[in-house]
Parts: sequence; structure tokens; C-alpha cells
Amino acid sequence: PLEEDWLVPTLCLYQGFWFPSHLLKGVLAFQNHFQAQPSDILLVTSPKSGTTWLKAVLFSLLNRAKYSDLDSQQPHPLLTQNPHDLVPFLDVKLYLEQENPDLAAFASPRLFATHLPFSSLPRSVRDSTCKLVYLCRNPKDVLVSLWHFTNKVKAKEKGQIPLPECLDKFSRGLSLYGPYWEHVLDYHKASSEMPGKVLFLMYEEMTEDPHVQLRRLADFLGCPFSEEELKDGTVEGILRMCSFDNLSALEVNKSEKGSLGVENKWFFRRGEVGDWGNYMSADMGKRIDSVMEEKFHGSGLKF
Ligand code: A3P
Repeated sequence: PLEEDWLVPTLCLYQGFWFPSHLLKGVLAFQNHFQAQPSDILLVTSPKSGTTWLKAVLFSLLNRAKYSDLDSQQPHPLLTQNPHDLVPFLDVKLYLEQENPDLAAFASPRLFATHLPFSSLPRSVRDSTCKLVYLCRNPKDVLVSLWHFTNKVKAKEKGQIPLPECLDKFSRGLSLYGPYWEHVLDYHKASSEMPGKVLFLMYEEMTEDPHVQLRRLADFLGCPFSEEELKDGTVEGILRMCSFDNLSALEVNKSEKGSLGVENKWFFRRGEVGDWGNYMSADMGKRIDSVMEEKFHGSGLKF
């Protein structure tokens, strides 16, 4: 079944989730051809949960020995490349452009991203010992971020889309890779059942206590910070490099061109927790609260 969507022409219900129909080709190719390696690391998100940020963080963390922002001989790749180019999407990029891309050029550990729900991941991802890092974000901020993004993408064609209309669809599960609720819940459950395989991170916790979350991430990925690194500013350096202020000010990220078919700068808007309060009425907030209560009841998941 197809539904008219407010981001792309249509959303298409596939395996219980709403996929942008023009991207389904990449999902099928990813499911059919991707062979996970035990050392692979996959970042998974629902769109607008902070994917761009965590791509930068993961890249910097894993490559911390190789690059230092103080070393002019080895300038950090994030200074000249957008995080989406350093950590490509499997479904939205690599398998969309080619049915069976050659991934041999990616050095181990290979670092990729995807928006796929847990139940739709290729079998080899679920069967192998590769690791999944899931980042989620308060649905109210996700929705407002998605609404802004949508307005930019659609602006020329449709003009502003009313927020209440987006909220209504989002609440009913009609959003990119939605239902948002099940997307988050499935990974949350997987992370408690398989703590060595799935790490569940929250945008709000990353913002509030980035040191602790970065150390959690490093431990989970098997590359913990050494005592020396904890003292010599390595952690702070990664966080500084990946901060909203730093990344959003770089020329490459202000660019109107981007490899995902939209402008790089659209991935950097405000980068704050609670911005939804500037756009949603109290009633709109309550509507999301009541869906959260119903959907997350008994899961231990709270925003
Ligand atoms: P806002 O629209 O609320 O500002 P995604 O990367 O999944 O598309 O998510 C985009 C959201 O993450 C946007 O949220 C964007 O501003 C925010 N973001 C991008 N880079 C960030 C960073 N370095 N730190 C915190 N938030 C960031």
C-alpha cells in the first residue's frame, strides 16, 4: 500500500514499516547482498535523531590514533568531508547506487549507517557478531526537526506543511521508517537482550553527559580509552571536533551540495534538546506524550 507523504512522493509499507518508495530499491539490494563481517559497525537511527552527529563521533573515535586536529600533517577528514561521506548509508546510498557494490575498499572495522528497522536488517547482520549502535531522540524533537527538513526539501513544490498535519501522521506511525515507536522499541529490546551486540544511545544523554556516553561507546566497540587518553584531552578533542558549533561552521557542511541529494547544511539546524517547545502547543505536546505512554508502557523507555 502507498500513502502520500510529506517528505517524498510516497511512503510504501514494507515488512511493517513505512519506507520512502524511491529508496526501497536500496533496501532490497542491501537485504539481498550485504555480507556482514564480524568486525563491522553499523550506526542505526530513525531520521533526524542525530545521525550526522554520531557518524562524526564514531569516525573520530575509531580513527583517533590516526588523526589529531592539532597535527597539521594529518588534517582531520571531518574538516573537509561531510560525515555522510565518511560513514556512508548502506540502504540510502551504497546499495541504492549499485545493486551489489564492492565494499572491499573499506578498511576493517568497516563503519556504515542505516535507517532500517531491526526486523528488516539483512540476515547476515543479525547472525554475525558485528555491532549495532542505535541512536534515538525524543520524538518531539525528531518531529520538529523532520518538519523543518521536510519544509526545506518540499519548499519549492508545496510551501510550508502545517505542523499539526505532520504530528498527526507521525503519531499514527506514518513517517520515514516509521512507526517511529516500533523502530525505537525494537532496538531498545534488542539492546537489553543482546547487550554485546546492540548499544542503545540517546541524543539527550549524549548532550547532557558526552564524556560518559563517549566512554560507553568506546568500551562497547572494544576500543576503550587508555588511562593516558583519559588525561591527555583525547576525549575532549573528539567532542570538540564533533560539536554542532564546530561541524556546522565548516565550509563543507555549509555547502549547498551534498551526496545524499539534499544540501549538507540542512543536516545542521539548531542541534538542541527541547526545541520542540518553540513550535508545538501544549496540546500537541500532550498528544505525543499520550502516544509515548501507550507505546512505551512497560518497556522502561523514557524521554
Ligand atoms: P535539529 O533539526 O533539531 O537542529 P540527522 O543527522 O539524523 O538527520 O539529525 C539532524 C539533527 O541533528 C538536526 O536537529 C541537527 O541540527 C542535529 N545535529 C547535527 N549535527 C549535530 C551535532 N554535531 N551535535 C548535535 N546535534 C546535531
